[in-house]
Amino acid sequence: MTANDVNTAIDTPVDCSIVRSKILESGIKNIGRASIRELVSVTAEIEKASGIKFIRMEMGVPGLQASDTGVKAEIESLESGIANLYPSIEGIQLLKKEVSRFAKLYLDITVPEKCCIPSTGSTSGSFISFLTLSKISSEKKKILFLDPGFPVHKQQLNILGVDYVSLDVYDFRGEKLKDKLDEIFSVGDIAALLYSNPNNPAWICFTERELEITGELCKKYDVIPVEDLAYLNMDFRKDYSRPGVKPFQPTIGKYTDDYIILISSSKIFSYAGQRIGCIVISPHLFGRNYDDLTRYFQTTEFGHAVIYGSAYAVSAGVTHSTQYALAAMLKSANDFTENFTEKLKVYGERARKMKEIFLRNGFSIVYDRDDGEPIADGFYFTVSYPGFSGEELVEELLYYGISAISLSNTGSNRKEGIRACVSLVSDSQLPELERRLRIFNHNHKIN
Ligand SMILES: Cc1ncc(COP(=O)(O)O)c(C=O)c1O
Repeated sequence: MTANDVNTAIDTPVDCSIVRSKILESGIKNIGRASIRELVSVTAEIEKASGIKFIRMEMGVPGLQASDTGVKAEIESLESGIANLYPSIEGIQLLKKEVSRFAKLYLDITVPEKCCIPSTGSTSGSFISFLTLSKISSEKKKILFLDPGFPVHKQQLNILGVDYVSLDVYDFRGEKLKDKLDEIFSVGDIAALLYSNPNNPAWICFTERELEITGELCKKYDVIPVEDLAYLNMDFRKDYSRPGVKPFQPTIGKYTDDYIILISSSKIFSYAGQRIGCIVISPHLFGRNYDDLTRYFQTTEFGHAVIYGSAYAVSAGVTHSTQYALAAMLKSANDFTENFTEKLKVYGERARKMKEIFLRNGFSIVYDRDDGEPIADGFYFTVSYPGFSGEELVEELLYYGISAISLSNTGSNRKEGIRACVSLVSDSQLPELERRLRIFNHNHKIN
């Protein structure tokens, strides 16, 4: 169904004519395929015109307050007079020290301070990584995504002109991953791979065994894994909260010598607005020499190329004050003066309640298993409804005051699905979510 042929005779929580006109005014041809930010804007327009508050599930914004520790450190640093100074591209010493400690205490891996480089969020971390990794070899230029994934990563490769291969891992979990990766890597054109763990949008959490398989195959075929830990420690089935104490958030860093890990403050410290994260490069990869790099950089050394080639070209350093903020937030986690993981558990609890509401009203969970286990409750989940594609469902739910994104931009094979993000939905909205989905279910009878 499109905005032109929606059945206006059906009673929906939001006036059909308003939704339809706002979709048409947006000029977006297929609203079901719209990007997250486009949906944010159309939803805001519908809310304004209809006066009806939406249940916003489209954007992965943290729903918690920004870390006080970060805000205070940032203000203090600005007052101390750093704003006129260019920060060094490799990052302030204080931050490098705390990232290195954090890697040891929360991931149980040893990474020297020089290998920890700030980035403007994990998003610029992946951009800088892709920029460099796609140039280490004139023969191996492609990136593999373990999908479904964060659509912006693909957009980054599109604008860089770098080809990619996508593997929806749902059917290749556990030991099955081995043969599939072997098949893809053996073609010989993959330079690097990227995945997020836990995963956006499906909330798949790779097991130690799967990371071991991936790490070993990366070693065998000399492929560099980029592990995006935007949702670090958020597999709440395990207690990863205590620094230096098992169990630890699983990481590829245990299973191969050459890797990149992206750390983000956006979700774990609710610090998305300040755009600060960190690129952690394994010491072996940092010091590796690639002759082909000299086609684009003044050096053959990978770490040097990342810092003085790519990171310099992208933003010539990362906002000085935010580096102080991240250093302070990581220090509080490392010293365990604050338990950041505990604060995040509210997302898991809310996901559990929201999933129940969807299931009661005829929806199904799309990515429902995690290597044989039921999928965990976290920041996102995926749902479908009989008779609808994901794109149709995104559009239809707008008439019910609910916004989400379809899985079609995520590299998913499951075209029937949409992604729901729990962070902006408040507990007080859950009865209204139930009411709206009940009407949806009533209007779309399941045979
Ligand atoms: C997998 C993944 N990586 C990265 C990001 C963005 O992180 P940052 O805000 O640090 O750029 C997101 C945000 O939704 C994400 O889901």
